[in-house]
Amino acid sequence: MSTVSLLDITKTYRSKKCDVVALDGVSIDVADGEFLVLVGPSGCGKTTTLRVVAGLETVDKGEVRIDDRNVTDVAPKDRDVAMVFQNYALYPHMTVFKNMAFGLKMRHTPKQEINRRVAETAEMLGIAHLLDRKPAALSGGEKQRVAVGRAIVRKPRAFLFDEPLSNLDARLRVRMRAELKRLHGLLATTSIYVTHDQEEAMTLGSRIAVMNNGVLQQCDTPTRVFSEPANRFVAGFIGTPAMNFLDGRIERGDSGLVFRMSDVAIPIDASMSATMLAYADRPVVMGIRPEAIGIRAGNGTAATKCDRCGTGLQGPFCHACGSEADGPVDGCVEIPARVEFVEPVGLHKDVSARLPDGPSIRGRIPAEARVNVGDAIRLTIRPTSTLFFEPGEAGARLSPTTAC
Ligand SMILES: Nc1ncnc2c1ncn2[C@@H]1O[C@H](COP(=O)(O)OP(=O)(O)OP(=O)(O)O)[C@@H](O)[C@H]1O
Ligand SMILES: [Mg+2]
Repeated sequence: MSTVSLLDITKTYRSKKCDVVALDGVSIDVADGEFLVLVGPSGCGKTTTLRVVAGLETVDKGEVRIDDRNVTDVAPKDRDVAMVFQNYALYPHMTVFKNMAFGLKMRHTPKQEINRRVAETAEMLGIAHLLDRKPAALSGGEKQRVAVGRAIVRKPRAFLFDEPLSNLDARLRVRMRAELKRLHGLLATTSIYVTHDQEEAMTLGSRIAVMNNGVLQQCDTPTRVFSEPANRFVAGFIGTPAMNFLDGRIERGDSGLVFRMSDVAIPIDASMSATMLAYADRPVVMGIRPEAIGIRAGNGTAATKCDRCGTGLQGPFCHACGSEADGPVDGCVEIPARVEFVEPVGLHKDVSARLPDGPSIRGRIPAEARVNVGDAIRLTIRPTSTLFFEPGEAGARLSPTTAC
């Protein structure tokens, strides 16, 4: 087992027509035995990062260290890391056994040892009955297992996975994801796992490194990346449906600071008031997740609390028991809006509603809620559920430590 570190890596792909900066000052430390997930949109530099660790790409600047040894100029075969590719890259003319044994054979491992390790790994992955088959006679899931087996059998210092599940159908992907998690529990080999699927990242990673345009945006636990995003890019990329972002200004109201967006004024929660004081009379962006938004019929007077089950909630329907509810909920702000679309998604409905002369806001509400396109409703927002960002697409999140 090993640590893997990238120190200020910059990588440019050069061609006659143009240069592409694929990685721009990326630094990541992967701890011994950690499962780090690299996530980000297409073209953000995920595969390049793995290829740099594997030694398949040279770098302009920076250092790659494995176990505190500088391997920046070390050949791929001498780095002792194993990469699992998206397309599996199995040798089509070789049987499963030979595919799995190939790396060991190249390292002149004794035949008996090869037989033992392949058999043991095939057993662990449930592919022992496939050892005599060739890749063409395997399903996608089986090929994927063979590709993982070929990496495991070598007992490398680290695994590098490049979207290994993306060719599988949704059900198999979820199963294989659980299997990879189990395998990591057994082997505890340091792993870097690339995906552009943020749900996969959240479920697999002990930490998640979010990238955009070749720049590392944040590297943190799934919980912190979700609830304390470093900036608007991370906030918008992590979480489904995506966070709502609303442009407005911080103003001084009669009873404290408010976030103002035309006629709407949302009080700033006490925990943020000292931080936001520095932004008084300045534009900021408010972020709120769809799950934190409630709705209520247009003629209602206040956000509600369920009088049947007594659970705290927002909106006209109890999020806990599904019944219609009455009575005010403290601290919620209501904003009039008109429903633009309603999408049923299993246990929930996604609703998009437009503010008068304003933006659309997306909410995720219980499936029982009765709401139709064109309805006049009130969106309910709890000030404690809001986040604030500097203006602009890449604005940093404003937190007590960022106040100027
Ligand atoms: N061999 C290459 N020559 C030139 N440009 C390249 C090369 N490989 C990648 N790039 C560019 O470098 C950037 C990063 O590519 P990379 O393959 O690392 O992205 P990625 O995050 O893995 O994307 P995806 O999710 O689509 O696989 C992209 O702009 C891509 O077009
Ligand atoms: Mg890629």
